[in-house]
Amino acid sequence: MRLVEKVHLALAETLRTGDVAVDATVGNGHDLLFLCRLVGTTGKVHGFDLQEEALTSSRRRLQEAGVLDRCLLYHEGHEGMSDVLPQEIRRRTQAITFNLGFLPGSDKSVVTRPSTTIAGLEASTEWLAPNGLLAVTTYRGHPGGSEEARAVEDHCSNLSSEKYAISTETTGGDMSSPLAFLVRKKS
Ligand SMILES: C[S@@+](CC[C@H](N)C(=O)[O-])C[C@H]1O[C@@H](n2cnc3c(N)ncnc32)[C@H](O)[C@@H]1O
Repeated sequence: MRLVEKVHLALAETLRTGDVAVDATVGNGHDLLFLCRLVGTTGKVHGFDLQEEALTSSRRRLQEAGVLDRCLLYHEGHEGMSDVLPQEIRRRTQAITFNLGFLPGSDKSVVTRPSTTIAGLEASTEWLAPNGLLAVTTYRGHPGGSEEARAVEDHCSNLSSEKYAISTETTGGDMSSPLAFLVRKKS
């Protein structure tokens, strides 16, 4: 099973019709579409990306799939999510995904960076509901990717084990294989 499939499986086990989710790195909108389908017609997905181009192509993808009405897109960095997300979903968001790195097919000049990623992860814990899932996929094959994966790992290992259960998924055995951190909020 590919890493993205393992992450999607964990999301599918978490999200129910009517739930709220956040996609912190919209990119080409594949994860976003997956989330929109899981939350159904009565749910909502909030999506963030720094690139207008990513939001435009994702909006088109959702429109074609007939699920655009259950999605709100923000041309903002995920580190600022607490400034824009509606207060009523604070501690009521059942899943938040980060799929780090750069936009596939782009010039790779806009890439997630450890400082803003960690700021986004810190903010996420405020928005996650009890039993909610934070899924962070990291890539180690591009410049800065290993450092970012290490920063995410450090961040996760510093979370209270009384409040969070953490598991790590990978598909390859070498140091450049992608890693996914699945953080479940206990209460
Ligand atoms: C690997 S792609 C995401 C893939 C996407 N989830 C999909 O399913 O196609 C990473 C995305 O993160 C975006 N990004 C980079 N820094 C960001 C930030 N601080 N806040 C939000 N998005 C950011 C990039 O513009 C890029 O589109």
